[in-house]
Amino acid sequence: MSDGTGPVTGSVQRAGAEWLQYDYASTRLVDDEPRPVTMWRYRALLPVGEGPVRYPLPIGGTPLLPSPALRASLGMPGLWLKDETRGPSASNKDRATALVIEGGLRGGVDTITTASTGNAAISTAFGAAAAGLRAAIFVSTGCRPDKLALMAQAGAWVFRVSAGYAAAVDLSRTAARAFGWLDRNTGANPVTVEAKKTVAFEVWEQLGRRPPDAMVAPVGDGPTLAALDKGFDELVRCGVADRRPRLIGVQADRCQPLVQAWRGGVAGPAQLDPAGTVADGIAVLRPAIGDAVLAAVGRDGGGMVAVDDEALLRAVDALAARAGVGAEPAGAAALAGLHRALEVGLVHRDENVVLLVTGRELKAAGGPGDGRRVRTVDRLDEVEKALADGNDG
Ligand SMILES: Cc1ncc(COP(=O)(O)O)c(C=O)c1O
Repeated sequence: MSDGTGPVTGSVQRAGAEWLQYDYASTRLVDDEPRPVTMWRYRALLPVGEGPVRYPLPIGGTPLLPSPALRASLGMPGLWLKDETRGPSASNKDRATALVIEGGLRGGVDTITTASTGNAAISTAFGAAAAGLRAAIFVSTGCRPDKLALMAQAGAWVFRVSAGYAAAVDLSRTAARAFGWLDRNTGANPVTVEAKKTVAFEVWEQLGRRPPDAMVAPVGDGPTLAALDKGFDELVRCGVADRRPRLIGVQADRCQPLVQAWRGGVAGPAQLDPAGTVADGIAVLRPAIGDAVLAAVGRDGGGMVAVDDEALLRAVDALAARAGVGAEPAGAAALAGLHRALEVGLVHRDENVVLLVTGRELKAAGGPGDGRRVRTVDRLDEVEKALADGNDG
């Protein structure tokens, strides 16, 4: 290629390859310091003390994508994707992990624990590895083997709890109290909401310091959506926004406790079957801060919608094919939910609407990690014994 555009001045042949040339003598490559935009940009409204940030991985500053092909296909010129799959472990959990670990590093802890449906666990395992902390993760025995492999690969202790996710949460929290560990559990640690609210600040900045008309987000335990509510509320309190967007939460048909609660009903067994949906990340029977989600969507005319697996998988395909964004089913739930929200009149095609794309599956390459650190437990003494046997002080 020799018909250079822009600053290209010509080309030379070097060892059989064509190298484009520029006017090197008069070029100023950069005239300012590189300053990546990260979550710490908003530390004036984060529970972080003075001094340099110690957490070593870059967090936040994810793109807000206009996705023209998706806009055209939906007839929504004001549609945006907030792409949270760009974090170190490819989900929005990385914000919460970072802020919790930052506090832990300042407090001198050596171990962090959480229970998780998968992504928060992977994020915690990766974040702890980067920060030099031990991670003790509690999952249900139904947690997917590929997700377990990623946690093990990052060197985490993984405790599989046969009584399910709620029991895993209880055991993780009990262990945190008993052993003085840093507790990252959603619902137990308000810092997770603080971190995730920075998504609202970023969206507001990326839209030219304006809130969107509506924002759609998947709902599992609830902090992702509740944090949007808090973030946009704080922008109003700071006097830099005059309103909050409508918030719309999305759950899977097969696990929709909050959609039913929103409608004033009670979910039946077929609507409370976490293993029955491909959206494992949002399949939570007892959302830790469900009331906060209901309050958030109840303000400003938002709502809750449920979507079936087919719609979730179509949304995964559409994000890949029309936006170039890879997402897992739970991560694509906002797009699936948008279709439903349009049908029921919760959003309109001429509005500024932001879809929160929350996660993309990581694949475990390389070895299986230390399998001895993956244990099935039901009680605290089994956890203690495993750690002692593992001689992993
Ligand atoms: C990909 C993905 N999206 C959304 C969520 C829901 O987040 P929250 O638990 O904050 O409601 C999760 C939770 O695990 C998730 O993994």
